[in-house]
Amino acid sequence: MAPPRSHLLPALLVLCACTVAPPPAPVAAANVPITTCRSFCGNITVDYPFALHPGCGHAGLRDLLFCINGALMLHLPSGSYRVLDVDYAYRGLTLHDPAMSDCRALDRTPAGRGNGFVLEPWREPYLSPDPDNAFLLLGCRATSPLFQGFPDRHLPCRNVSGMGCGDYLACPAWDDYYAGDGRRRAPGDDAYGDAVGAPPECCAVPWAAIRAVNVSRLECEGYSSAYSLAPVRAAGGATGWAYGIRVSWSLPESNRGFCGACRATGGACGHDMESHADLCLCGDWNSTSNCDSSADAAPSGAAARFPRAVAAVRWAVLASGLTSLWWHASKPNLW
Ligand SMILES: *[C@@H]1O[C@H](CO)[C@@H](O)[C@H](O)[C@H]1NC(C)=O
Ligand SMILES: *[C@@H]1O[C@H](CO)[C@@H](O)[C@H](O)[C@H]1NC(C)=O
Ligand SMILES: *[C@@H]1O[C@H](CO)[C@@H](O)[C@H](O)[C@H]1NC(C)=O
Ligand SMILES: *[C@@H]1O[C@H](CO)[C@@H](O)[C@H](O)[C@H]1NC(C)=O
Repeated sequence: MAPPRSHLLPALLVLCACTVAPPPAPVAAANVPITTCRSFCGNITVDYPFALHPGCGHAGLRDLLFCINGALMLHLPSGSYRVLDVDYAYRGLTLHDPAMSDCRALDRTPAGRGNGFVLEPWREPYLSPDPDNAFLLLGCRATSPLFQGFPDRHLPCRNVSGMGCGDYLACPAWDDYYAGDGRRRAPGDDAYGDAVGAPPECCAVPWAAIRAVNVSRLECEGYSSAYSLAPVRAAGGATGWAYGIRVSWSLPESNRGFCGACRATGGACGHDMESHADLCLCGDWNSTSNCDSSADAAPSGAAARFPRAVAAVRWAVLASGLTSLWWHASKPNLW
């Protein structure tokens, strides 16, 4: 169906004006180098949905990973964590927090020590500690929010995937802490609170029970974290646990199809840095679908800052769609 003649002239003028700007979106599939968004930090591969380049990766995981002197670091409001491993098959990250206690050493101060783990609210749908990760909160005061709202001393503390405070309090780390001050109570009592209402020395909770491990807000002196990857119980109690924070990521179901189509057409999956919508990076242009659909070209980064240019690009795309048949027939070599 041919467009009205009166519209062809302005459309062609816009098209001609655009030939001095970057060429219009190619119709053939892109072949974006794999290194556009994939990179390495030390010996860890950083790939979708993570990225070290702005605009790459999924928007829910933006501004998260940084490569600092060959160490991959994850930044959250609660602090910086070293990333020890990124498991793309199981969608898991293993984090190390130098400010947390483990079985060999306690790290605690009366004012609260250790970063804990606090996510930005907008990031919560995409990233969270594993259900099998035990957060062990140490030396929390009786007034801690942790112990409020649990009548009849029904504390939230429990074993998480077989890891609990009973075993943790048997760690060598506690030897010096308790040495000579007679504070040591039976591990069972310590772990779950004693009969006279003193708070437990240690309280293990899964992420889902608190959803933010803010050590100072919880009025604790420190924390530890351990995770279990295998369903088998670690031999040797808490000395055999893996210490660190195990986090998993998830993306909306719609992202799988989008990203698959983007990659299949030679693009790299990314996101719009302003709207945070999924974007397929096709080399010298971006698509809101994939690199075969030039009709879905996203306004270029520069254009987004200059609305008149956006209008021109939109015009050009529209015009090229309306007139491509006629254009092809008369001047096939211009393309
Ligand atoms: C990276 O290298 C360290 C030793 O430098 C090693 O412990 C670790 O397992 C390696 N990680 C990966 C993902 O290969
Ligand atoms: C942790 O809690 C303290 C005290 O409530 C607050 O000032 C701080 O901003 C919180 N930190 C994070 C990362 O939410
Ligand atoms: C937690 O595990 C220990 C063994 O490590 C066990 O003795 C204790 O009863 C468990 N506590 C709960 C509440 O299941
Ligand atoms: C495509 O999107 C990426 C990431 O948002 C951006 O860095 C780049 O400048 C965009 N390219 C164009 C041509 O708009």
